This record gives sequence, structure tokens and C-alpha cells, in this order.
Amino acid sequence: MLHSCHLLFICFSFLARFSNAQSNQFKGTKNYEGSSNLLDLQYHMGPILTSPINLYIIWYGNWNPKDQSTIKDFLYSLSSSSSVSPSTFDWWQTVRLYTDQTGSNITESISLSGEFIDSRYSHGKFLTRLSIQSVIKSSLDTLYRPLPLNYNNGLYLVLTSSDVQVQDFCRAVCGFHYFTFSSIVGATLPYAWVGDSGAQCPGVCAYPFAWPKYSGMPSGNKNIMGAPNGDPGIEGMISVIAHELAEVSTNPFVNAWYAGNDPSAPDEIADLCVGVYGSGAGGGFVGHVYKDKMGNGYNLNGVKGRRFLVQWVWDPIKRSCFGPNAIQ
Ligand SMILES: *[C@@H]1O[C@H](CO)[C@@H](O)[C@H](O)[C@H]1NC(C)=O
Repeated sequence: MLHSCHLLFICFSFLARFSNAQSNQFKGTKNYEGSSNLLDLQYHMGPILTSPINLYIIWYGNWNPKDQSTIKDFLYSLSSSSSVSPSTFDWWQTVRLYTDQTGSNITESISLSGEFIDSRYSHGKFLTRLSIQSVIKSSLDTLYRPLPLNYNNGLYLVLTSSDVQVQDFCRAVCGFHYFTFSSIVGATLPYAWVGDSGAQCPGVCAYPFAWPKYSGMPSGNKNIMGAPNGDPGIEGMISVIAHELAEVSTNPFVNAWYAGNDPSAPDEIADLCVGVYGSGAGGGFVGHVYKDKMGNGYNLNGVKGRRFLVQWVWDPIKRSCFGPNAIQ
């Protein structure tokens, strides 16, 4: 998602519906699984990320090593072909089906090429969309180990800790991607931001590991899915990071792959599959996913025996949402 909504709930007048019965919660969810004819996903001739991606993470705020390693293991898993199937690597192969004018596919390779820890909240605890670009600028200008300004194949990922508020976070977005402005950062660089919703709105941005407030769910939490790495906020971030990486790769400058006529509010390849994690998803059901021994939900395997629950993305050949855990 770029900067309109991509949330499971918010896209359809969320507050009004939350007072309804649980079974009605998700009726307005955009779910295009299998409904190929409705969709006008098109290539608008712009560049996509076909060169190996050098990913730079900016850890903004208060981060602990455990959560950082969960997220980094997910990122390593995207390019690691040796994980057990269905793997995170397999999931990225659907993103790779997108090509540009030259017939080049999205790259197979995503390397974590640098990290910057902004533990002093260089731009405060409330960030606007534009001040996130200033956070990136600060990470390039810092005296001690700055991130490189890599305008060939750099992709900058700003991750905010659970105590950081971001404009529209929880209300309209869980993450977004865009490109930087030269006047702020000194170059036009694709970037994405994702926030830890754990303390602010896990029911919105870490669904299905947390349940929306006001949803009328009975107490007891019987239907909440356990998070495979133990933290709903971080686990929710992983699916949103996957969502944003898929979209920034296929639409980095907002002139490549999207559906709809309005480039300022495009439906991108992951927007089309929000809430879909397995076959049969819809109507509030996330689809067929696996459960580990503890009963935690997951659909992808990764490095070091990690498991993740990641939403599906639009497959341009099948013309439906797809993930490697699909039941054939
Ligand atoms: C590249 O994209 C084309 C068109 O979607 C697809 O047929 C091909 O399998 C893709 N190649 C790779 C390596 O994913």
C-alpha cells in the first residue's frame, strides 16, 4: 500500500461494522481470491526492482535483539532457497513473476546490507509521512557508521518501535511504501515504513494474532491465533513487511504495477490479498494454514526452523491471490 488504506478492517468503514456480530466483521474485506475478472491490474511502464536489492534497516526507537532477530530471520528467509517447503523463498517467487518493459523479472536476491539504530528517536515519538524521510536522511548523515546512499539498488526500511506514533498508523495504515524526495534525502530512493502495532492497535495491524477491539468477540480469546515467534506485534509486522516489500518491488515509483485508475490510491499486488493467508480465505477466515505444536498459526517456513504467517499476493499468471501453502 502506498498511502491509502490496505488494512483488513479499515478499508470498509471499520467503526460502524465493529458493533455488528462477529460473523459480519469482514464482509467488506476486499478478497479477490479466484475472482480474476473483476480486476484490472496493469503495468504502467515504469521501473521495478530487477537488480539484487540491498536492504537497509533503520530501527527507530526502542528495539530488543530478540525482536530484531525475528524480523531479520524473516528477511534472510526471502532469499534462502534451502528452507523447508512451503517456504518464505517460495512465497517470494510469486512476486518474481512481475516483469518490466524489458522482460526482466523482480530480483531473486534481497540482502540485508546495513542497519542503523536510531535509539534516540532523532525525530521524536510522533512521525509524519514526510518526517520518515527525514529519519532516512539522518541515518545517511550520522557520523558514526552512516548507511550508504545507494541509489543504484538500495531499499530503505524504517521500522518503528511500539511506542512510536506515525501519521495514519492504526487508522488508515499499518505500513506504507513510497520514494524519497531529493529535497529531503538528496536522492529518489524507494523506501517502506512498518510500525510495531503491539501497544497501539494489534487488533488492526497484527490480526489474526490479536482481535479488534469492539468486535464483539466473547472474552476468553479462544479464536485468537497464537504467534509462531511469540509476539503478536512483531509477527504482525512481518506480514506487513512482506506486503510492503512485494509492493515496493513491483511499484517502487508508483508508475508500474497496480490496479485502479488513480495512481495516488492504487491497489497494488498485496493490497489485493489482505487477509488471505491460505486456500479458502474469506469472510473473516484467514484460509487454511498450519498449526505448530503449541497451536500457533503459520503458513511459511524460513531459516533456522523459523515459521511465519504471511499474507498472499496477487499472482499475475493464475490471476488470483496465491501462496506456496495453497491446497492444490
Ligand atoms: C518472469 O516472469 C514471467 C512472466 O510472469 C514468468 O513466466 C517467469 O516464470 C518469471 N521468471 C522467474 C524466474 O520467476
